[in-house]
Amino acid sequence: MSHLLHLDSSARSDSFTRRLGEAFAEAWLGGGGEVTHRDLAAEPLPPIREGWTRICDTLLREGITETDRYPEAVRTAQEQEAWAVVRPLLDELVAADVVLIGAPMYNFGIPAALKAWIDQVTFPKMVLAPRKFVVVAARGGAYGPGTPRAPFDHNGRYLLDFFRGHYAVEDGEVIAAELVNSLVDPALAGRLAQHRESAADALYRAQELGNKLVGYRIPRAG
Ligand SMILES: Cc1cc2nc3c(=O)[nH]c(=O)nc-3n(C[C@H](O)[C@H](O)[C@H](O)COP(=O)(O)O)c2cc1C
Repeated sequence: MSHLLHLDSSARSDSFTRRLGEAFAEAWLGGGGEVTHRDLAAEPLPPIREGWTRICDTLLREGITETDRYPEAVRTAQEQEAWAVVRPLLDELVAADVVLIGAPMYNFGIPAALKAWIDQVTFPKMVLAPRKFVVVAARGGAYGPGTPRAPFDHNGRYLLDFFRGHYAVEDGEVIAAELVNSLVDPALAGRLAQHRESAADALYRAQELGNKLVGYRIPRAG
């Protein structure tokens, strides 16, 4: 059975990234897949501490890149404490065939809650391909290709670079609902129709991609 790791990070309980993620996950469950859901906003992870940086240094020094060999780099009490936080996150990540990340745009970037997960679980030399990574994003403004704000997108674009640079995953996908602030900001009221179209399109694409990917399984030894 194919396995989805679904992360949410919106501080809002009723949110666009949550709705898009739910649409994807429901399609996935409907197709017979399994889901592990982690709500990084409701149950925040701590920022990394010295123990994890020391484990990372040992992994680099000793050329350990396979995640199942990471325990070899856990030696001191301080490192064991750090590993107790990292290990369950890493187990969930490695068990996934597809990773779905709900990523609201906060201050042109990603929420601190999501960044804490990335820092905790990621050692810069790891290969997670051929797992697939899908981002469901929401933004107050418009950041699509050709828009004046496109260069300010350190949300979806950052995550695609991150998957490529640290996980060797080249084919990450971003589905975004844009202009969400037109619902609350009078200055953007004229863009409400554009927002509605973008949100409906994102919802459709999230469902469709969930249906399409549910059969996807990465090759596993044994
Ligand atoms: C703290 C905070 C910072 C935000 N920063 C930006 C921003 O830099 N650019 C933007 O377009 N929208 C920004 N927004 C608007 C959110 O991206 C928008 O509300 C989006 O719908 C959040 O996703 P959610 O609906 O899943 O919570 C911000 C919202 C909050 C709460």
